[in-house]
Amino acid sequence: MDLDVIDPASWLRRGLLGVSRNDSLRSVIESAPVSRDVVSRFVAGAGNDQAVEVASSLHSTGRLVTLDYLGEDTADPQMAQDTKRVYLDLIGALADRGLTSGGKVEVSLKLSALGQALEQDGEQIALDNAREICRAAANADTTVTLDMEDYSTTDLTLSAQRELRQDWPWVGAVLQSYLYRTEQDCRDLAYEGSRVRLCKGAYKQPESVAYQDKSEVDKSYVRCLKILMQGQGYPMVATHDPRMIEIAGVLADRGQRAADSFEYQMLLGIRPDEQQRLADTGARVRVYTPYGEEWYGYLVRRMAERPANLAFFVRAVATTG
Ligand code: FDA
Repeated sequence: MDLDVIDPASWLRRGLLGVSRNDSLRSVIESAPVSRDVVSRFVAGAGNDQAVEVASSLHSTGRLVTLDYLGEDTADPQMAQDTKRVYLDLIGALADRGLTSGGKVEVSLKLSALGQALEQDGEQIALDNAREICRAAANADTTVTLDMEDYSTTDLTLSAQRELRQDWPWVGAVLQSYLYRTEQDCRDLAYEGSRVRLCKGAYKQPESVAYQDKSEVDKSYVRCLKILMQGQGYPMVATHDPRMIEIAGVLADRGQRAADSFEYQMLLGIRPDEQQRLADTGARVRVYTPYGEEWYGYLVRRMAERPANLAFFVRAVATTG
């Protein structure tokens, strides 16, 4: 039986991801004033100044931060350079505020925003841009993690990470438990000094490469978590799922991992009370904090994941209109 046909969540997710490609709807949503208010729950503002303020306020509550300048699939070399510039300025501004030391506030990068998909020399351009950002991060005593995008870029991204790690061994990678390959990638990356952010995966991927059933994705997440927690690296447990968070805690206890040898990570605006609760227990908790004008695709992915997020948006539009 084709479960997609009867699974309302999957249907909604598909619908939303389809809607996200509708340009006129996009421009209506982007220009609606209320969008700004709703978006601010999930996005830290349009520019570096606001991002630094939000990072500073999160840090004052005992949470760590990773900042992501939104944008992906850059098709223009100048945009890739501009994105790099934004990151360099951001790291400078964070360092001036004393927010980078010891990796308190780090940055997350999408290689496609740095030029990976450019027809001419895209991979090299993205790598060169990432190098400059890593150099600035090293000077500011903080770290960089490479986001993971569509499965067709997994090998490229992991190979860029390998290259960058030769100079900066702390460059982290994201692995997605919905991909069949990820258990093996976890084994390959579970060595000392390796930082792996384990998430479930946010893109619609074909059955040939990814589990389609949520329970299979969850089981894979647990298997991957076991590998990372038993390994020598630094696991970054990126999920809002209470079951996964509990299992991570049990595995850490069982492996007698010190509280500073792994961290939990959640997205800005999602389960903030749980973020704070975990941080108050002495666990390391990092808030993935996106910002920038290109918030639309990011927000649609969050809505597709959870109808309650969509209801929040629709309610806000209805009550403002
Ligand atoms: P899932 O969506 O399976 O939900 C499980 C349970 O968690 C729910 O039943 C509910 O109890 C709780 N929950 C989830 N969302 C909630 C909400 N809004 N409010 C209250 N409870 C909620 N993806 C990707 O493909 N590439 C990447 O690079 C990244 N990077 C990344 C970094 C970080 C720090 C995070 C947290 C996530 C990502 N992601 C990502 C996104 C990730 O792949 C995934 O799509 C989302 O995190 C949603 O999956 P969850 O594990 O949170 O649980």
